[in-house]
Amino acid sequence: MSQIIDGKSLAAEIDAQTMVETEQLKQNGITPHLVVILVGEDGASQIYVRNKERRAQKLGIKSTVIKMDSDTTEKELLAKIHELNQDVDVNAILVQMPLPKQIDEFKVIMAIDPKKDADGFHPVNVGRLFENEIAQTPVACTPQGIMEMFKKYQISLDGKNAVVVGRSTIVGKPMAALLLNANATVTVVHSHTKDLKEITKKADILVVATGIAHFIKADQVKDGAVVIDVGMDRDENGKLTGDVDFEKVQEKASFITPVPKGVGPMTISMLMKQTIDLTRWSV
Ligand code: GUN
Repeated sequence: MSQIIDGKSLAAEIDAQTMVETEQLKQNGITPHLVVILVGEDGASQIYVRNKERRAQKLGIKSTVIKMDSDTTEKELLAKIHELNQDVDVNAILVQMPLPKQIDEFKVIMAIDPKKDADGFHPVNVGRLFENEIAQTPVACTPQGIMEMFKKYQISLDGKNAVVVGRSTIVGKPMAALLLNANATVTVVHSHTKDLKEITKKADILVVATGIAHFIKADQVKDGAVVIDVGMDRDENGKLTGDVDFEKVQEKASFITPVPKGVGPMTISMLMKQTIDLTRWSV
């Protein structure tokens, strides 16, 4: 049986520290300010944005949500971002993904001032991450939260075989870079990979971010592996579940994250922490 990594309580610990740092900034006359832009009516995005707003309020961080219609043009969105880039009252900007199809997501990411890039998605920040120059650099929040879990549970990465399932900009690619920076031997597998199972079975550290419910089964996992499940999926009964078949895999893994209360709560905590960091770095 594996030890369950408690993302919820670790997130609460990080929030407590963020709250202290927010208070210190406020005592110096600086109120950290996160602006979240939500374009359109995507149901999941609305929930994520509401959760971010609530968490910011709880921690004393000023948050503004800008809602734009689903028929917003790319030009209109870019103009809004330029305005926020210029606004000295704004410390961190996040544009919720996915965007409506008339808008090029990469152009939008490119438009955000790298010094206000709450997600760490701007190519300048991604480049710094891949160069392992991450002091004063925002980094994608979900992979950062996973690194905090490794630290908290004293899971060493040096020389380990780490396999990342999924190659998204939001999780897979930055996760691979962080693991590489921590001296793991990293393999990224994805939908075009041949013999995926043969590769995942060799993983000491397995990070799964496919968006497919129960994609990873017990026979794809090595005995004693550390299994991190980034999924937020619905099973056939509509219940929230992960990308990993938790019940079976937990019998083999040494550590495993649950869904919910695993990676999910950490992402928002890292976003709040990063908002504070961006604020501190800018003064
Ligand atoms: N959509 C799903 N996850 C994320 C995230 O981490 N950042 C942004 N901007 N959009 C998302």
